[in-house]
Amino acid sequence: MKVLVIGSGGREHAIVDALTRSPQVGKIFCAPGNAGIARQAECVAIGETDTERLRDFALEQGIGLTVVGPEVALAAGVVDTFRAAGLRIFGPTKAAARIESSKEFAKELMAKYAVPTAGFRAFTDYAAARDYVAGRPFPAVLKYDGLAAGKGVVIAQTMEEADAALRDMLLDDRFGAGKVVVEDFLEGPEFSFMCFVSDRRVWPMVLAQDHKRAYDGDRGPNTGGMGAYSPLPFITPEDEKFALEHILQPVADALAAEGCPFRGVLYGGLMKTAQGIKVIEFNARFGDPETEVVLPRLKSDIVDIFCAVAEGRDARLEWHDFATLGIVLASEGYPGAYEKGHEIKGLDAVSGSVYHMGTKADGGRVLTAGGRVLFVVGRGATLAEAREKALADVARIDCDNLFHRTDIGHWALDDFAGHK
Ligand code: AMP
Ligand code: GLY
Repeated sequence: MKVLVIGSGGREHAIVDALTRSPQVGKIFCAPGNAGIARQAECVAIGETDTERLRDFALEQGIGLTVVGPEVALAAGVVDTFRAAGLRIFGPTKAAARIESSKEFAKELMAKYAVPTAGFRAFTDYAAARDYVAGRPFPAVLKYDGLAAGKGVVIAQTMEEADAALRDMLLDDRFGAGKVVVEDFLEGPEFSFMCFVSDRRVWPMVLAQDHKRAYDGDRGPNTGGMGAYSPLPFITPEDEKFALEHILQPVADALAAEGCPFRGVLYGGLMKTAQGIKVIEFNARFGDPETEVVLPRLKSDIVDIFCAVAEGRDARLEWHDFATLGIVLASEGYPGAYEKGHEIKGLDAVSGSVYHMGTKADGGRVLTAGGRVLFVVGRGATLAEAREKALADVARIDCDNLFHRTDIGHWALDDFAGHK
């Protein structure tokens, strides 16, 4: 079978890598891909939101399965376009992907179906939002619901901070017209629970945890994720069962009941609070960088799973027992301004896996081409061993413009006592 993967980051590299392990896969294409993906697939110069050209390419090449990585492609309706042309594609429709693309849609669905999450209210009016926030405890959680998705969450410690954020979001034109969702502040360790969902069928993946802050000790600005690992010793089998039965399954059922059945990866961004497990956010796709530590642990043939999800059939998932831990190498300055075009050496000296997040080939050389550049994954019998191996591989990579965190996995390895 010919397979097309849409996207260009570490997540898509991990998907391509998993596909190479399937005996059913003949040729793999990736649009647009990157320098690392090009070692395992043929990269095609079509943008990830260019849905019609992607469809035409799939039709011309006789692609048997397309797998969508990024949310922008889902929001652009790539799944709807492919399905209308009779093509098999793994991912939710635009309507089902609203569970990620609209915070208000997600919050209202959770309220209607009694899925545990932070209490919330939505506002479009600045004065009403300010008065509401002023009458509540701090910190205040303010989430912009609109086109600024991604940079739209502010945890304000004071009324001054909250007021500045509300002005930005509702009065200034910087974000465009939109709403603000004001949420209760929750506390506890966060974790990522990704499930394959095919209408009302839900198959859980192993758990992972992302590290959003740029620097060691969870300090510095928020990023797209600086590292991840799996499994998570502080989440018990009972926690997992609760999350499946009270969060992921009910949401899959709710989306089906609301007329937008979900087929793809439903990602629960969850928090283990003193009052139980609650939803922070949903994503309608594989997490990045969680996928890069979760898919290496998948023992089953991923093509069987992708096809079963796309066609609404049953499948079985089997997992390896080993632990995985991955570290992001990011360009100096990220998540702010950074330079591109620095040469990376030593990639062939690593013993584990390296997934490329933002690289470009230049003749025989590999150059940095993004904020997050590489993701180095170690695997071991324990998380401690996986971290040692990942750090040893990071040291083998030679580039003058990359930085990384040294404490990935600290919730499990160093502070475990605090997060039972
Ligand atoms: P989101 O984009 O919704 O995932 O929010 C980004 C980050 O903000 C999350 O990963 C949390 O660390 C934090 N956050 C979001 N919502 C809450 C909340 N209700 N209480 C505490 N922290 C939150
Ligand atoms: N790792 C968080 C995300 O994929 O959105």
